[in-house]
Amino acid sequence: MQKKIIIEGGKRLEGSCLIKAAKNSVLPILACTVLCDGEIKLHNCPDITDIKDMLNILISIGAKAEFNDGTITVDCRTVEKTTVVGELISAIRSSIFLLGPLVARFGCGIIGSPGGCAIGSRPIDIHLDGFRTLGVDVKEKNGLVNCESYGTGLRGGNIRLKMPSVGATENLMMAAVLAKGCTVISNAAREPEVTDLANFINAMGGRISGAGTKTIVVEGVKRLNGGDYIPIPDRIVAGTYMIGCAVCGGCVRLEGANLKHLGALKRILQASGAKVLGGKRCIIVKSNGSLNNIGRVQTRVYPGFATDLQAQLMVMATIADGESVIVENLFETRFKHAGELVKMGADIDIVNKSAIIKGVNKLRGAEVAAYDLRGGAAMVLAGLAAKGTTAVSNVHYILRGYEDITKDLKGLGAKCESLGMRI
Ligand code: EPZ
Repeated sequence: MQKKIIIEGGKRLEGSCLIKAAKNSVLPILACTVLCDGEIKLHNCPDITDIKDMLNILISIGAKAEFNDGTITVDCRTVEKTTVVGELISAIRSSIFLLGPLVARFGCGIIGSPGGCAIGSRPIDIHLDGFRTLGVDVKEKNGLVNCESYGTGLRGGNIRLKMPSVGATENLMMAAVLAKGCTVISNAAREPEVTDLANFINAMGGRISGAGTKTIVVEGVKRLNGGDYIPIPDRIVAGTYMIGCAVCGGCVRLEGANLKHLGALKRILQASGAKVLGGKRCIIVKSNGSLNNIGRVQTRVYPGFATDLQAQLMVMATIADGESVIVENLFETRFKHAGELVKMGADIDIVNKSAIIKGVNKLRGAEVAAYDLRGGAAMVLAGLAAKGTTAVSNVHYILRGYEDITKDLKGLGAKCESLGMRI
């Protein structure tokens, strides 16, 4: 059933919203449960399709997994398959995270090409080069990646990433957890989700230090245990709603969100005229809806401005006063939402990696589409800010990372509905 989100724009956002665990933390942690010799419970998790897909992948290789009322219970002691192929794998980017744990535990693993949002070519060369350094023989053929560490098992090594890839840092941390000896990962990603995965591994008996810095040290251990864990809150969902408040005007309180993970966005919103307060467990945004332009903003690896908030920030720039420029440095085709915003009256020119946005007085409601997860969320924000009615199609993209964006926004006073449309 093809769903649409219908938004009546012009409402201020007032009230509070609960921010649940981060999609990009829960996904690598779920892959990591393959290494755990015990049952794992993850709490405060959002019911989103990427997590459901990952649970189905774990079940397909023999794990027991269930998701009840925000708590995920996984037991991978029954995992016996080391080949993970098929449409499940091509559904999400995070399927690649299984390679590290499978090779670490079984000495081998075969994965089909991962999927994920069409925001760029998304190669996995950094992952595979790192596996080779740990003594893994890697072959790529017919869309399959075949890894084998002959008899000896993985040995610790010194890995230098050619760029601080989030997924590669996480995959290689997991691959090194049970390796013989010590592994050093240099030029590592510093995202909070990397630190959260390291904290999960240490909570289950691992020995990782330096997560959150450019150099991570993994000391191999014999096994990881089971246990309970609460992943960090989703900084991208929180950032999406912070920008929603800035563009609509109002006062929004995000319960459970950690402002320390959103320093770059906080500075941009404050420079634009919004007020941003908060700490480790709550964020408050106040805005009168009139915004200065954002100047020139570049997406960067953490702690720079997050590429996953680029589309949402572009919405803000379309109605800010004056000209703004957004440079997308991480992914080569992450401007698909610009064309949809132009349908709503935005003035945007794309020149190579840059979007030049001239603020207009108002966006107008229109029929628009989501082309990826964060671009889809941005189109909902555009509908909130626009005059008139907006219909956003291809909603399945948004459901990958937002449990119920319509319910969250209605709870803040927005006028929007999710409508199932017979095709
Ligand atoms: C993670 O993707 C996130 N996904 C993405 O969030 C996020 O946009 C991205 O990190 C950057 O922050 C998950 O955590 C599940 P990367 P990932 O490896 O790991 C290049 C969302 O909306 N690269 O840091 O795939 C790559 O092409 C999603 O929640 C290589 O060249 O990102 C890209 O240009 C979208 N070779 C850059 O690095 C590799 O082997 C950043 O990629 C790996 C990556």
